[in-house]
Amino acid sequence: MTVQPAFDPEWYRKAVFYEVMVRSFKDSNGDGFGDFRGLIEKLDYLQWLGIDAVWLPPFFPSPLLDGGYDVADYTGINPLYGSMSDFDEFLEGAHSRGMRVVIDLVINHTSSAHDWFQQSRSDPAGPFGDFYVWSDTNDKFDNVRIIFTDTETSNWAWDDVRQQFYWHRFFSHQPDLNFENPGVHEAVFDIARFWLAKGVDGFRLDAIPYLYVSEGNSGESEPETHAFIQALRAMIDREFPGRMLVAEANQQPREVLEYLGTVETPECNMAFNFPVMPYIFYALKSADVTGLAATLNDLPAVPDGSAWGVFLRNHDELTLEMVNDSEREQMYDWYAPEPRMKVNVGIRRRLAPLLDGRRDKLELANALLLSLPGSPFLYYGDEIGMGDNIWLDDRDASRTPMQWSAGEAGGFSQGSIDSLYLPVVSSPEYSSDVVNVESQMTNPSSILNWTRDMLSLRKSLFALQTGTYRGLTTGSSSVLAFVREPEGPGNPIVCAFNFSESPITVSIPGVAPANSVLDDVRLVNSGIEVNEDGLLEVELPPMSWHWLRVS
Ligand code: GLC
Repeated sequence: MTVQPAFDPEWYRKAVFYEVMVRSFKDSNGDGFGDFRGLIEKLDYLQWLGIDAVWLPPFFPSPLLDGGYDVADYTGINPLYGSMSDFDEFLEGAHSRGMRVVIDLVINHTSSAHDWFQQSRSDPAGPFGDFYVWSDTNDKFDNVRIIFTDTETSNWAWDDVRQQFYWHRFFSHQPDLNFENPGVHEAVFDIARFWLAKGVDGFRLDAIPYLYVSEGNSGESEPETHAFIQALRAMIDREFPGRMLVAEANQQPREVLEYLGTVETPECNMAFNFPVMPYIFYALKSADVTGLAATLNDLPAVPDGSAWGVFLRNHDELTLEMVNDSEREQMYDWYAPEPRMKVNVGIRRRLAPLLDGRRDKLELANALLLSLPGSPFLYYGDEIGMGDNIWLDDRDASRTPMQWSAGEAGGFSQGSIDSLYLPVVSSPEYSSDVVNVESQMTNPSSILNWTRDMLSLRKSLFALQTGTYRGLTTGSSSVLAFVREPEGPGNPIVCAFNFSESPITVSIPGVAPANSVLDDVRLVNSGIEVNEDGLLEVELPPMSWHWLRVS
């Protein structure tokens, strides 16, 4: 095991996470695929940027039919990405720079190429015969929705070898594991122990609501699923204290809350906040923050010691499952004018193109992300405003090589252009000649340097890390305002965001006593006084925001 970072059982509540797929970051050997040695070369960059934790999606042996979420061997390294000793060196390198590493634990399903599945189909009476959900008919559990609506028409697929149907919530090449079988629990615990013993700091629990399925139910969040997560968490707390779990449960906050468990029976330490994300994009186009404010105001309190994970984009589509039908149609009109931009129930584009490449909107969205209750998860490349390529299949549109410098391969690989796992973005506005790390590092006013400054500023404001959230009334449907109040020492921070294209002045009650002065934390010597009537009058230019310190 590597030297662990200083023990801090709640490190994830203060951390800024950075998601990067290994194959997308940096190719060290010219074969066209990013790899662990490339990632090691770029650890200094991540440290320079101010990242506290790296989240790596699956890097295990895999047919790569679902970006690696089709796992064929849970305790190996995909040879395209390097060797186990490269992984160890990467982990050591991250830890020695004070950064933590979270990896994906994909346990709802395996790849059909996994040896367990191959044995299960050919030897029903053997040790893996009962590792998957088999049936003679394909009409069980017909209440359960289909997730990959663009590719799948049923959650059952026929297996010619075993002459039975098997259950799958995602692609048909991803058979679901059978959690009714205690052997599956043991196998999952062994995988978790393997990586925890190496020193990883936590897991993202992929597709966690779907572990159990029973007749008449939706196949989500069944009580046995929660019992399993509680057992996993108890094992981790007992054997590897200080490590964490973050739940990927694309559901309404009240339901997601169950994945955090309670103080007595904890489940995950964190859960992604899915609903708040689409409402940020809704507000950015409509100039109306009503839905966003309501979502934030209605967020249930999380149990002590746990936290939301907030994000703008990730390796998946911008999912629209959490907005209502008319909002979804509206968002498709705004953000997916070309049919190719849609996938499943969402949009497969990157942050910068979604925001029309507008710097003011990028700053507003990121400033909000860094102000929300919970820990922010950034997606690689968004810190330089990278573009996407909607001519690529499925979610690969926004998984193209990281753009390090100018030139056809964008500094990602020394290999031939034809060997790249995906082409570098080449559109005129977003090509590597225009958008790259090297040129932005030397330009003090780049979005990259802006992001870095913001991360460092946030680090100094405790209220923004773990503070409570209280929504404020602004009298304007275009302005979102709230105050984050620190748990311990530090000052409350008032955050205000104008989503409209016009300047607005708002009067906010209930922030601080009359005549007290709030400082703009971005500007030296700039204060705003609360007036005689106890109102804070904030002037906001179009698409702008403020962080104000209450002293
Ligand atoms: C999760 C992943 C997604 C993957 C799916 C099936 O939702 O984020 O990328 O396709 O699980 O594993």
